Amino acid sequence: MENKLHDYRKSYEKASLIRENLDENPIQQFRTWFYDVERFGGIDEANAMTISTLGDDGFPKSRIVLLKSYDEHGFVFYTNYESEKGQALQNNPQTCLSFFWPNTERQVIIKGMAEKVPENRSDSYFASRPKGSQLGALVSNQSSVIKNRQVLEDELEALEKKYADKEVPRPENWGGFLVRPESIEFWQGRPNRLHDRFLYTKSDSGYDWKIERLAP
Ligand SMILES: Cc1cc2nc3c(=O)[nH]c(=O)nc-3n(C[C@H](O)[C@H](O)[C@H](O)COP(=O)(O)O)c2cc1C
Repeated sequence: MENKLHDYRKSYEKASLIRENLDENPIQQFRTWFYDVERFGGIDEANAMTISTLGDDGFPKSRIVLLKSYDEHGFVFYTNYESEKGQALQNNPQTCLSFFWPNTERQVIIKGMAEKVPENRSDSYFASRPKGSQLGALVSNQSSVIKNRQVLEDELEALEKKYADKEVPRPENWGGFLVRPESIEFWQGRPNRLHDRFLYTKSDSGYDWKIERLAP
């Protein structure tokens, strides 16, 4: 059946967002929205977010990673530091994270600066992962060109033998990034494309947030 993309139309009617209902703190606002996504249900990985980086070639690149924690300091995910995104973030820490939650008809866009988390934090998260994922992190030279899938399977088999009775050490090139937010936008879908958008921008003092409504 032919897909008629121009016939895809949806009216967003589930909720609204008004200034009076916003938390003064965007992290708390994010927490409320994240609970809502879980409460509404129907989304397998509510913590899947798009991260965009700027490469040395001048192109932005976006891909999905999983949010593993967040607090007043920012948003944390884990990856290979030598991957394309890992290198891009180390060369240019300006980044953008975004979430789209269709069940609540909401989008969140976070601009901020990325930095590596302390090694002991990456160690404890790595230690908490299932052994298969730990070995996967060791196998995969993420983002490099490989000859075929067999290369990966063979490497995994060898590592499974090597670490059969041993703890898997965290590879030095694998760990977390913390994205410290500078602005966070909350988007709530509304009927007739008159969506609600509020932008929080960090003040120069770095302590409080300016909140402004944006046109949809
Ligand atoms: C649902 C989903 C979750 C993912 N989670 C992660 C993650 O947490 N960390 C990660 O490095 N890659 C994750 N990936 C893979 C990335 O999207 C990407 O393919 C990989 O990190 C290599 O990206 P790069 O070459 O641009 O660095 C995930 C992909 C999907 C679809």
